[in-house]
Amino acid sequence: MSDTPGSKQSAFDRRAFMAGAAGSALVPLTARAAAEGTSAPAARDPSLPVDVTLRVNGKDKRLSLDARTTLLDALREHLKLTGSKKGCDHGQCGACTVLIDDRRVVSCLTLALVAEGQEITTIEGLATDDRLHPMQQAFVDNDAFQCGYCTPGQIMSAIACVKEGHAGSEADIREYMSGNICRCAAYPNIVAAVKQAAPEIVKG
Ligand code: FES
Ligand code: FES
Repeated sequence: MSDTPGSKQSAFDRRAFMAGAAGSALVPLTARAAAEGTSAPAARDPSLPVDVTLRVNGKDKRLSLDARTTLLDALREHLKLTGSKKGCDHGQCGACTVLIDDRRVVSCLTLALVAEGQEITTIEGLATDDRLHPMQQAFVDNDAFQCGYCTPGQIMSAIACVKEGHAGSEADIREYMSGNICRCAAYPNIVAAVKQAAPEIVKG
């Protein structure tokens, strides 16, 4: 009889093998627990808060969070840093963009726990000593917003866009900023702002 995948013989052999394998894998664990008079450790209640330290804008912030908390909610609801905006909450508008170790991420799709040990930069961390970051200044100079809701995410994304080397032309800027939606359609002014700030950011 041929041992084809659909044959009764091979199906029986596979069941027998899996049953034997499962049994042999369990025996040492149960035998050891019985010998030591212990039971397996209880599973941790996933609803309990988890302690985490987030480094945000150069400062360590200790928090106790539900493990499922997004970075956006940790920033807005727990740290009261409301500059990062919740637009779609589905990773599609870019309003929640922050930098993690200089990479742009949508914080609504990033778990806060995953960001532990990394440098998180939000819009609140850009200005220094009453001086706006060059990208913030360029947005003001070029009137690159109307309602302003998308603006923090646009600015964070624009800084990364320049540092990635994707601001060499208007076409590049449009392409690499396309993840940030502006419902007021301030796009021409946003492109102008990125062009203005790029040389200063590259220069450092
Ligand atoms: S709120 Fe995060 S991408 Fe829209
Ligand atoms: S300025 Fe209103 S959504 Fe961009």
